Amino acid sequence: MIDRRAPLAKADPAIFQLIRREVERQEHGLELIASENFVSVAVLEAMGTALTNKYAEGLPKKRYYGGCEVVDEVEQLAIDRAKALFKAEHVNVQPHAGAQANMAAYLAVAKPGDTVLGLALPHGGHLTHGAPVNFSGTLFRATQYGVREDTGRIDYDQVREIARRERPRILIGGASAYARIIDFARLRSIADEVGAIFIVDMAHIAGLVAAGIHPSPVPHAQIVTTTTHKTLRGPRGGLILCQEAYGKEVDKQVFPGLQGGPLEHVIAAKAVALGEALAPEFKAYATQIVRNAQALAAALVERGYAIVSGGTDTHLMLVDLRPKRVTGKEAQELLDRAGITVNKNTIPGDPEKAFVTSGIRIGTPAVTTRGFTETEMLKVAEFIDTVLTKKDDATITRVKADVRELAEQFPLYAPPARAAVAGGYHAR
Ligand SMILES: Cc1ncc(COP(=O)(O)O)c(C=O)c1O
Repeated sequence: MIDRRAPLAKADPAIFQLIRREVERQEHGLELIASENFVSVAVLEAMGTALTNKYAEGLPKKRYYGGCEVVDEVEQLAIDRAKALFKAEHVNVQPHAGAQANMAAYLAVAKPGDTVLGLALPHGGHLTHGAPVNFSGTLFRATQYGVREDTGRIDYDQVREIARRERPRILIGGASAYARIIDFARLRSIADEVGAIFIVDMAHIAGLVAAGIHPSPVPHAQIVTTTTHKTLRGPRGGLILCQEAYGKEVDKQVFPGLQGGPLEHVIAAKAVALGEALAPEFKAYATQIVRNAQALAAALVERGYAIVSGGTDTHLMLVDLRPKRVTGKEAQELLDRAGITVNKNTIPGDPEKAFVTSGIRIGTPAVTTRGFTETEMLKVAEFIDTVLTKKDDATITRVKADVRELAEQFPLYAPPARAAVAGGYHAR
C-alpha cells in the first residue's frame, strides 16, 4: 500500500539510500568539475516543493490553465531578478536546461538549414554550438572556428575570415572549456560586418558576470543564453536574456515551440538563486572563484604541468598533461579513485582521441562554495600531482584519506540540513 504521507526514507528506502550515498560522495570528495556547484539549502528547498504539481503553460498572466495566480508571482519574481542582475531588457526563465535555451535562441532568429558559426567542441565550444552529433549540427549548417594552437586563445582573425566566407545567420560566442575572457565587442563587430545575429552562451561564466567581475555579453549580444547551475549556483536549468526586439520570438520558441509546461518548482529555485546572486556576498564568492583558479593554475605550472593559454581569467583551466606522460582518461580515473572529480578534456591540437584526450578541465566554483581559498588550492595541487606522478594504490589510498580530511574541515551541508538533503527533508 502506498503511504502518501510517509517520508522518503520510509516510502522508498532504495532511493533514499542512494540519495544519501550521493550526498556523502559530495561531502567527502573534492568537486573540481568546472560546470558543477553546490546549491544552498534554500535553493534545494524551493525545488522540492508542491510547485511541481502545477501546470502553467504560457507566461505570467497569459496562461492556458487556471490556478496560476501564485506561480505567476513566482515566475515574475524570477524574471525581475534576472533582469536586475544582468541588466537585460527581456528574460525567459522557462528553459529546462542550457541545451533547450540554445535551441530556442537559435530558432528565434534562424530557420533549419541556415548557417551558424560557433567555437568547435574540441577547441572548447559546447555540443550545442554546432557539433555534428547535436541538433545544432544537424538542424543547421554548422561552421566552426577555433583557438590558435600556439596561444590557446580564440583566433579572432580566423573568426572574421570564416564569417566573411560563410555568411552565417548566427555567430555564437561562449564556451565550455575556455579559460580566457572572450572579446564580445569584437565578435559583435564581426557579426555586424556579415549581417549575423550575435548570440552568446554564457553558461560557464554567468556567475562571474552576475557578480560584475567578468565583462558582460549582455550589452553586445542580441540574445544571451545561460544555464543556472554552474557559477551562478542555482538549480539545474536554463535562462534566456535578450533585447526587447527579440523577446516575443524567444518566448514563442520556448513555448509552444520546444517545451510544454514550465517547471515552476525549478523556476522558484532559480528565483532564490538569482536573489542570492544579487546579494553583496556573491561578488566576494565570484572573486574568490577566480583567485582560486589562478592559484591552482600557478601551483600546477610550478609542478611542471602546462596550462593551455598559460593561465586563466575565469573559474576554469585546461591542463595539458603531456609533460607528465599521462592521458586525460588515465588522470580522470586515477583522481576519481582519490576522491577528486575532474573531467578529461581535449586540448587544442590534441593528438589523442576525444575519449582519451591529453588534458583535464579543472574548475573552482564548487570548492569555493565550500570555503576553499588559495591555501587549500595549494593542497589540491599537491594531491593532484601526487596521484598523477605516483599512480600506485597505496598513494591513492593515502591521498583519498587526506582529501576526506580536508573536505571535512569545510562541511557542505551542516546538520540538520544534511539530513534534509539526504532525503529526509519532509520528515522533519
Ligand atoms: C556553454 C554551455 N552551454 C550549454 C550547456 C548545456 O547545458 P545543459 O546541460 O543544462 O543542457 C553547457 C553544459 O555544460 C555548456 O557548458
